[in-house]
Amino acid sequence: MILIIDFGSQFNQLIARRVRENEIYCQVEPAGIDIERIKALNPEGIILSGGPSSIYEDDSPKVDTEIFNLNVPILGICYGMQFMVNALGGSIERSDKREYGFADLTIKDHAPLFTGLEKSTQVWMSHGDSTNRLPAGFTVTASTKNTEIAAMADNKNHFYGLQFHPEVEHTLGGFEMLKNFLFNVCHCEKSWTMSSFVTGAVEQIKEAVGDKKVIMGLSGGVDSSVAALLIHRAIGKNLYCIFVDNGLLRNNERTNLEKSLTTHLDMNIRFVDARRLFLDQLAGVEDPEKKRKIIGNLFIDVFEDEAKKIDGAEFLGQGTLYPDIIESKSAFGGPTSIIKSHHNVGGLPEKMKLKLVEPLQFLFKDEVRKLGLELGLNENLVWRQPFPGPGLAIRIMGAVSEKRLSILKAADTLLLEEIRAAGLYRKLWQSFAVLLPIKSVGVMGDKRTYDSCIAIRAVTSKDAMTADWARLPHELLATVSNRIINEVDGVNRVVFDITSKPPGTIEWE
Ligand code: XMP
Repeated sequence: MILIIDFGSQFNQLIARRVRENEIYCQVEPAGIDIERIKALNPEGIILSGGPSSIYEDDSPKVDTEIFNLNVPILGICYGMQFMVNALGGSIERSDKREYGFADLTIKDHAPLFTGLEKSTQVWMSHGDSTNRLPAGFTVTASTKNTEIAAMADNKNHFYGLQFHPEVEHTLGGFEMLKNFLFNVCHCEKSWTMSSFVTGAVEQIKEAVGDKKVIMGLSGGVDSSVAALLIHRAIGKNLYCIFVDNGLLRNNERTNLEKSLTTHLDMNIRFVDARRLFLDQLAGVEDPEKKRKIIGNLFIDVFEDEAKKIDGAEFLGQGTLYPDIIESKSAFGGPTSIIKSHHNVGGLPEKMKLKLVEPLQFLFKDEVRKLGLELGLNENLVWRQPFPGPGLAIRIMGAVSEKRLSILKAADTLLLEEIRAAGLYRKLWQSFAVLLPIKSVGVMGDKRTYDSCIAIRAVTSKDAMTADWARLPHELLATVSNRIINEVDGVNRVVFDITSKPPGTIEWE
């Protein structure tokens, strides 16, 4: 495995992704990690990440310098390189000026990190301080116009430093450099596959849970479904899943989930029909935040009531993913720093005295999808676009009612049918319909109409932090608009949202 020491860079997850893409397992750990734990992890290589600090600041993050005596290859990136320089006796020049953006790298020594690259290549820089004196045993292996020591190597000890960021796409040969580190320097073998993951995870769950019961909330999404399948594979009937039907899902989602999870497996799933309860409490509520609170609280109440009926459950299963875990660990904290539990059932483990089972906690989203396929989950569910916890309630501007829900569901179904038919569903991060709180005048069959308006929202995104409005083909928009107006009673106008995020958000509420 490769150990990534987190010095606080916003790109840490990217480094981890790059390693995993090469089918090598890696873990991101805080800088305060104990040296004994590092030894126990027995890494084949260590990557020191970048970070926002300056190495000479008193409270800059530090990892135990004993790592340099473990006889393990080490790659320092940006701040990680500066940490290495400082720890091994070189020096860093402080600067208030940042070098930010593209730079041309001239390679002086290709082996081993730059093997296969041209002599000159584009890299991406984001640093203030830089190395001005190398530690003993190092040579300069590449430079840029502004940074003489842009890369360094100590081939005897297998220590390497890169002042730029190989993990970002803007560094054209970056992935190759990381590959070279993994395979030519650390001699890692590709062993991180989903089938090997399943075997290990099933064993771990069996060991942790024994013959006790696990309860778990299903949302209809990928993460909770995959986590449930995995736990089910380990403990079978001792897994009790609860699906709260709040009536705010899209058409057919409950049936799809039921089909996906229960046709092939005899899984214990309790469907709680709480549609009336949610609709009643949401009646007349227009404020988006109030709607969210009502839905969140009600979900916990209903889930808890159902969970209490499962006698003697000691564990709560959750589909927490690795990005949640990494984000919740402080770059400066130790291994004991608090890990947040995501999802609406956050407070439940303490309240019901349940221990957590989170079998996806070391996986990224794309790995969860691969795992879903490996476990036989149906493709529609595996590739389902993200869907917000409060469901269609935050896509109905203003108060939610049965009538307005049915208009939105019908429009949304038609939109998704056409998006799928155009082969765009997987290419879009999200695509959905929004019911606006206005009516407008129209004319249909010589008659004046005064009806509702639907907005179409479609975005591309990598992580939902930013998003671009999708350039859907005009022909597709025309078909969708025609179908919605002709087939959905109560709608006489369709508009297309051309706002990116920022300044807009993906959802309208
Ligand atoms: P925004 O609208 O903030 O959404 O750009 C970013 C992503 O988060 C989803 N989203 C939510 N998910 N509960 C959730 O579980 C919520 O209250 C919620 N609000 C937004 C949204 O669908 C998008 O993927």
